[in-house]
Amino acid sequence: MIARERPSWDPTRLPDQSGRTFLITGGNKGLGYFAAEQLAGAGAHVILSGRHPNRLAAAHDALEARVPGASVETLLLDVANPGSIRAAAASVRGGLFQRGRLDGVLLNAGIVHTPRRRELTRDGRELVIATNALGHFVLAAELLVTLAKTAARGVTPRMVWLGSVSTRLGVYEPTDMQLERGYAAWRAYVQSKVVVQALGLEADARLRAADVPVASVVAHPGYAIGGRTPTVHGVNQPSRGKRLRDALQAPIAQSKERGAWAPVRALVDPRVEGGQYWGPRFVTRGAPVRQTPSPTSSDPEVRRRVWEECERLTRSEWPFARAARAAR
Ligand SMILES: NC(=O)c1ccc[n+]([C@@H]2O[C@H](COP(=O)([O-])OP(=O)(O)OC[C@H]3O[C@@H](n4cnc5c(N)ncnc54)[C@H](OP(=O)(O)O)[C@@H]3O)[C@@H](O)[C@H]2O)c1
Repeated sequence: MIARERPSWDPTRLPDQSGRTFLITGGNKGLGYFAAEQLAGAGAHVILSGRHPNRLAAAHDALEARVPGASVETLLLDVANPGSIRAAAASVRGGLFQRGRLDGVLLNAGIVHTPRRRELTRDGRELVIATNALGHFVLAAELLVTLAKTAARGVTPRMVWLGSVSTRLGVYEPTDMQLERGYAAWRAYVQSKVVVQALGLEADARLRAADVPVASVVAHPGYAIGGRTPTVHGVNQPSRGKRLRDALQAPIAQSKERGAWAPVRALVDPRVEGGQYWGPRFVTRGAPVRQTPSPTSSDPEVRRRVWEECERLTRSEWPFARAARAAR
């Protein structure tokens, strides 16, 4: 799992991203926020999305203060709510008439500290799978044609899915995706991440088969914690106790700022290709390198089943044919 490649990529000096636009889900804190900082710092226009207006406004203010001249706009988007996803996607499509392109989507929002008891969304889906996987499945479908139109400009737009190293800790075959036959908080998290990774890999295979020039990549951040992360007003303000507790994990953990390195590389490094898996060099921490996904999430049969179950649960299909036409 540990790659031998020496890191030749400097995450603190990204290639110029001027003129490019990226959308980030869950961008008001954690990895999503720091990914936004890194992209905006390289000159990209960032659409910072989140489900809560005040948290989004705080992150927007922080980003503008920390990255002078940043080009950033906010977008209300609750990935556990299909109506919110469709409204946000429509607004991105509308806004693009002015900006004209969408170069990448970072499908980052997620519940990390999962509820102890099974909870449902308003439309009756199990909350963790709905937030971490189903919402992004719908969002990517909604934005696929827009991404494909950007491909007509000679670039390959990307979608990057947030996987997790936890997918290697045991076999979590998603046979009961909504955990109707037995819910446990840890299982809900790991299974949702197996599903996310399977979706990211399957999406790429289907995009290629349909001749859609959009790449799908999976990246994981290792183990990234708030108490090892710089204080950013309104974004990351851990208590003294949390700082002390998290310091004990220093040998295996990294900051959320560094955790964002692999997803950002997956979004912008020209050498990254669709269907790949990226993460920190020392598994839980380090510079971003190419890795191998867990056998379960890369199993073609698991991927197919997961894809079809997501289609069934969300009642949505990806518009591959339309996207292929839009790219021409
Ligand atoms: N940190 C790690 O070590 C680690 C390891 C493996 C994978 N990951 C993955 O990386 C991603 C980000 O993790 P993180 O550590 O940055 O977590 P985090 O600090 O808890 O941030 C999660 C983000 O997702 C947002 N979010 C949650 N539910 C949402 C919803 N329904 N709609 C829109 N946004 C929502 C949160 O918004 P609110 O502020 O409104 O809650 C927040 O912006 C997750 O997908 C996670 O599974 C993290």
